[in-house]
Amino acid sequence: MAAVGHDVVAVEINEEKLAKLQSGSSYFYETGLDARLRSGIESGRLTFTNDFEEAMARSEVVFLCVDTPPGENGHPDVTSVTAAAKSIGRAMHSPHVIVTKSTVPVGSGNWLTSTIESVLPDDVEMGVFSVVSNPEFLREGSAVNDFLFPERIVLGGDNKEAVEQVVAAYKPILDQSFPGGSTEAKPTLVTTDRSTAETIKYAANAFLATKISFINEIAEICEWVNADINEVAHAIGLDSRISPKFLNAGVGWGGSCFGKDVEALAATARAHGQEPLILEATQRVNQHQRHRLVRKLQQHLRPLRGSRVALLGLAFKPETDDTRDAPAITIAQALTERGAIVRAYDPMVKQIPELPNLQTATDPYTLVEQADAVVLLTEWAELRDLDFQIVAERMRGKLVIDGRNAFDPSRVRAAGLLYEGMGRGALPPPVDQAW
Ligand code: UGA
Repeated sequence: MAAVGHDVVAVEINEEKLAKLQSGSSYFYETGLDARLRSGIESGRLTFTNDFEEAMARSEVVFLCVDTPPGENGHPDVTSVTAAAKSIGRAMHSPHVIVTKSTVPVGSGNWLTSTIESVLPDDVEMGVFSVVSNPEFLREGSAVNDFLFPERIVLGGDNKEAVEQVVAAYKPILDQSFPGGSTEAKPTLVTTDRSTAETIKYAANAFLATKISFINEIAEICEWVNADINEVAHAIGLDSRISPKFLNAGVGWGGSCFGKDVEALAATARAHGQEPLILEATQRVNQHQRHRLVRKLQQHLRPLRGSRVALLGLAFKPETDDTRDAPAITIAQALTERGAIVRAYDPMVKQIPELPNLQTATDPYTLVEQADAVVLLTEWAELRDLDFQIVAERMRGKLVIDGRNAFDPSRVRAAGLLYEGMGRGALPPPVDQAW
């Protein structure tokens, strides 16, 4: 927002995070973000504070961007939203539009309005603020670009003037009139009511997660019938009704959003007596991918107990250091429980709280030394381009499992290794029988 010309004051209540942000660096890794932070601070248009009174006095539009982690029975935990809403309400002395970016259960706009109303200062009228829903479609790893060049901006609210005020805030992005904007990339503006906007967010993530689970189910069928899922995905994706995006088969989706949002939407259906059949299948198929990968290792490394398995990648996707609900966690745990000796390498992740004893290597070639199997779990560019001759020389065994279908099988095989992807043709015989 500062980059497109607004004066932005951001509130952070965690002292450590606040100090980092004030010094111009973020407390997590996101491509291009630190440069934006620094230029925002240098231009004087971006400041950070922990003082709600100051932030509210200096603003007209407030974006609520706090976390909504998974809570009980699939419903998101709205503790942070409640706390932030109350702090905003207490510090409100002039008209404001409150924009919900946090992913909140459908219907939260009304609840949020009453939460803020309940703490407004005595001398302030109830109608001093309005709540507008503005779902967030940023992807980790490309969030800066996704923000500046979105395909659509969705705004949901009943108060026309409030919605117009948010449209005005987004005007430089809608018109692509900011420095570096592209007039060919003007996003579509969708204005609607609050519940519809909130539902759009969940439906978008649930659809993407379902698309991935769908292609993963087809990938398993490919293994039975000796078909190649990458070619299947490419060909069906040429149909513009299907589109080639989000058709990469592999070990399945992870991250803080898909699992939580699919579960939350399913919980909303159940709360109304509806059985969320597709949403449940989407989740089950996704969990199944992690089991499939472990099963592949069990089939080849007989016995798995005592075998050395090298995991390439820990983050839930490339270009991020986020490991929330990463397939690597489930897989490393399952392998360790079955007696395998697991080590890992990731360019950005050196430790995972869920796996305190997991050993990590400093580079991929050190990692594969004496390994019986190498498993790709995150398709970082530096891992896609591995030199398999070196890998083959250093490994003890021959098995390479490509959990992201990102390697060129012929390059792996040319090094004398046994390649197995997720749905790429008939399965090779177990490694001890392969010549
Ligand atoms: C997702 C959505 O894509 C964003 O639009 C949304 O704003 C965000 O959630 C959110 O709700 O905050 P994100 O979780 O950052 O973004 O990452 P994605 O790029 O969607 O990838 C999610 C997972 O799906 C990753 O584990 C990725 O490896 C996996 N994936 C993705 C596949 O397995 N196959 C694909 O074809 C694409």
